[in-house]
Amino acid sequence: MPLKAVCEAPGKVIISGEHFVVHGATALAAAIERKVRVEASWSDTLEIRSSATGGKEALAPAKKLVEYLYAARGTKPRLSMRITSTIAEGAGLGSSAATMVALAGAASALEGWGMDQAALAEAAATGEKVIHGNPSGIDTTTSATGGVILFRRGEEPRRIDLTSPLTLLVAFSGKKRSTGRLIAKVSEMKMTYPSLFESLCESATLVSELCARALKDGETATLGSLMTYNHAVLTRAGASTRGLDELVELCLASGCLGAKLTGAGGGGSVLAVPPKDPLEAQAVANKLGSAGYDAFFTTIPTSGARSWTE
Ligand code: PMV
Repeated sequence: MPLKAVCEAPGKVIISGEHFVVHGATALAAAIERKVRVEASWSDTLEIRSSATGGKEALAPAKKLVEYLYAARGTKPRLSMRITSTIAEGAGLGSSAATMVALAGAASALEGWGMDQAALAEAAATGEKVIHGNPSGIDTTTSATGGVILFRRGEEPRRIDLTSPLTLLVAFSGKKRSTGRLIAKVSEMKMTYPSLFESLCESATLVSELCARALKDGETATLGSLMTYNHAVLTRAGASTRGLDELVELCLASGCLGAKLTGAGGGGSVLAVPPKDPLEAQAVANKLGSAGYDAFFTTIPTSGARSWTE
C-alpha cells in the first residue's frame, strides 16, 4: 500500500462559448500550465488543509466531494489531504474545478480505485455543483482531460489537435467574483428574450467551431478576431464589467490579435492572443504588469490531471 499519493490538475481558459455552454451551446476550452496539487496520505479521520483557501467555508465543498467518493464505495475517508495551487481563485481560471479533480485523483491513487480521466471529471463535477449550482462541466472536464476540447453538455468532448503549440496571454483583473451569481445574471437574458438567447447559443456554437479550426490551423489573426467578437456578445449578455472592457481594450491597443473575458466574467480574467513576435508579446505582458495586472503566458495544449504514488 502506498504511503502517499499526489495528483496535479491544470486550470483552464475558455476560448469561446462560456455561459452559452450552460444552456446547451458548444464551447472551446484549453487546459493551462497553472495547476492545483493535492497530496494525500493516511490518517484517522478526514483532514483537508489548503494553502490556497483560508477559511473553513471554502473547504466545505472539498470535504463534501471526498465524503461522497467514499460513501459511493460504502466506506468513510481516513486520509489527510493538502492542497497547494498556482491558480488564482475567483479568476475564471478553473481553480475550484482543478481542486476537485486533484482531490478525486489523489484519493483514487492512494486507495487504488483506478479512476480514469472521465471518472475524475464526473466525480469533480459533483463537487462543483455545490459551488456553482448549475455548472456545465466544462471546467472539470478540461482539467481532467487536458488539451484543447470542444465541449457540449451531455456529449463526449472532442479533442482538437493543433498543428503546432500556441502561446496565449492571460491577465487577471484582480477582481474575484462568484461564478454562480454570473450564471444567474446571464440566464436572466434567456427569460427576457428567449428566442434572441437561443440564436446567441447557436452563434456561440458556430464561433466555437470556427475558433477550433483557426487554432488547429494556427490562424492566430482569425482566432483573435473571433475572440474579440465573442467578448462583445458576452458584454451584451451582462457578463463583462467596465474593468474587463478596459483590460480587453488595453490588450488590443498594445498589439494583441484579439482579447476577451474568459470564464464567468464579472471580474476574473482576460484571455488574449499575443503578437507573434516574442519580444512584442513580452512587451505587452510587461505593459499589463506595470498597469497592475497579473499577466502570464500559457502554452497550449497542456496535459490534463496526472496522479502517482510515492
Ligand atoms: O469562471 P469559471 O472558471 O467558473 O467558468 C465558468 C464557465 C461558465 O460557462 C460561466 C459556467 C459553466 O459551468 O460552464
